[in-house]
Amino acid sequence: MAPSKSNFSITTFFPLTFIVLLNLMISYSFAHPHKGVHPNDVDALQFALNLEHLEADFFLHGSSGKGLEDFAPELVGGGPPPIGASKANLDNLTKDIITEFGFEEVGHLRIIKATVGGFPRPQLDLSPHNFAKIFDDAFGRPLSPPFDPYNSSLNYMLASYVIPYMGILGYVGANPSLNGHKTKRLLAGLLGVEAGQDAVIRSYLFERATEIVHPYNHTVAEFTDRVSKLRNKLANNGVKDEGIVVPLASGAENKTSANVLSADYNSLSYSRTPAEILRVLYGSGSEHTPGGFLPKGGDGKIAKSFLHI
Ligand SMILES: *[C@@H]1O[C@H](CO)[C@@H](O)[C@H](O)[C@H]1NC(C)=O
Ligand SMILES: *[C@@H]1O[C@H](CO)[C@@H](O)[C@H](O)[C@H]1NC(C)=O
Ligand SMILES: *[C@@H]1O[C@H](CO)[C@@H](O)[C@H](O)[C@H]1NC(C)=O
Ligand SMILES: *[C@@H]1O[C@H](CO)[C@@H](O)[C@H](O)[C@H]1NC(C)=O
Repeated sequence: MAPSKSNFSITTFFPLTFIVLLNLMISYSFAHPHKGVHPNDVDALQFALNLEHLEADFFLHGSSGKGLEDFAPELVGGGPPPIGASKANLDNLTKDIITEFGFEEVGHLRIIKATVGGFPRPQLDLSPHNFAKIFDDAFGRPLSPPFDPYNSSLNYMLASYVIPYMGILGYVGANPSLNGHKTKRLLAGLLGVEAGQDAVIRSYLFERATEIVHPYNHTVAEFTDRVSKLRNKLANNGVKDEGIVVPLASGAENKTSANVLSADYNSLSYSRTPAEILRVLYGSGSEHTPGGFLPKGGDGKIAKSFLHI
């Protein structure tokens, strides 16, 4: 009976193993119904939609004169058009960069909304007036004429310096609290591209660090330094933001005044909480007082929880 014994082990052992494995997989998936998208992760990733919407319409309008409704109306969700967005006066290189950034934000909005759901585009203020106020606040006096983000490639890149950096810090801040593998993968992918965009903007400005931003008699480096200091002041939780040229004591290992990337003592990206980010985006220094880029406040559970206090 030796042959039939070996037949038994070949024909029954493998199917049996398969069935046991299948059972394990089924019971695992019932025991962990939301393993990929943990319910606690939803609010943190939805919060990021406020910034991603801001970036999408700023970059799409700046490069093409058209907004999210022209490229991906399903992602607008009936939200109002941004206030004061316009096509910028860009040279070809800058236009290529900003066009790419704009479409990258469309992808980010699509995947965030598909993974954790979301809300319609919030009311955004992308008007020259809003940017002019940021630069006035940064310099502590009204610039004359008022800063116009759409006037030139350099002005547009200086205005862009203001935005994706906040995304990096928000993603770094949200990371430790995420539970699901799918949301962790999503956050890492978003963080990578936001950091890349910020690096492109900063190296563009670093190449021009000593140029004067006409007609203001201030260099590009000084503009970045002023904006970074303003953001530290508004966020009100220490230094987490540095311009493109710094004293050696703030450079990498105290050895460089070049500061193409803004990072901490160990050259790690800084992190910010949603409240810190809202203080900057609102321009008010308070997560309870909307204004600036989000005149009616941010959407989603986190931003709204501050508005109802
Ligand atoms: C910029 O791009 C346009 C359209 O592609 C082209 O006609 C023009 O010559 C380019 N300008 C420069 C300075 O390269
Ligand atoms: C706009 O740009 C031109 C040069 O391209 C410059 O002469 C002018 O001063 C700028 N105006 C503003 C408000 O930035
Ligand atoms: C421009 O700035 C430089 C350096 O701060 C200063 O020496 C110069 O007087 C300024 N020029 C004008 C016209 O304000
Ligand atoms: C940089 O210098 C400061 C003093 O100015 C010191 O406290 C700090 O430890 C130095 N950082 C590094 C990475 O050596």
